[in-house]
Amino acid sequence: MWLIRKYAVDKDSANNLLAWLEPYEKFVCRKEGDLDTLAKNLKFSKSIVPKAESKLRQDFIDKMVLLIKEELHHFCRVLEIIRSRGIPYENITAGRYAKGLMSHVRTHEPEAFVDKLICGAYIEARSCERFAQLAPYLDDELNKFYISLLRSEARHYQDYLTQAQSVSDKDITERVIFFGKIEADLIKSPDTDFKFHSGMLTKFNSFGF
Ligand SMILES: [Fe+2]
Repeated sequence: MWLIRKYAVDKDSANNLLAWLEPYEKFVCRKEGDLDTLAKNLKFSKSIVPKAESKLRQDFIDKMVLLIKEELHHFCRVLEIIRSRGIPYENITAGRYAKGLMSHVRTHEPEAFVDKLICGAYIEARSCERFAQLAPYLDDELNKFYISLLRSEARHYQDYLTQAQSVSDKDITERVIFFGKIEADLIKSPDTDFKFHSGMLTKFNSFGF
């Protein structure tokens, strides 16, 4: 949402997107609202259009809006599952992974935008891989949920890569390989913080890993 607000859409559309996200932010930051209000808010039908100077096409925006909708839906589904299992919702801090990737984004446009999309692709692709690795060890409900998630993530990473190539004048292969090396280091090097995208753990933590 941050990417399309920054790079792609006109002012009214940007405000509409922000208003759409607001209940989720309130829930996460201030614990306001509940699953039922968030689930009702999933429907989003306002038109989101490119700003005049944007090179990005309507089909990119439509794809990204769909991606946001899917991620919000997944968030609600997670809330539903943890509620049914009596697990309270808690915020956790972000691990080093995304920040570690984004710290290598170039500072000039359009290269910065291309790099951010490539980072997005890696985050989605790595999620896809990890959901696939974990799914066989889970109970039936979670197994089905993880498989549905990995299918979405597989689509999302391809969407990000396609868009990265479409906004770049040059072939993006070299940048994809560049971020691939950084990403490999982030997942293989020692890490003290156990998260979905963390690196190799150096000590046992409360999860028993
Ligand atoms: Fe995703």
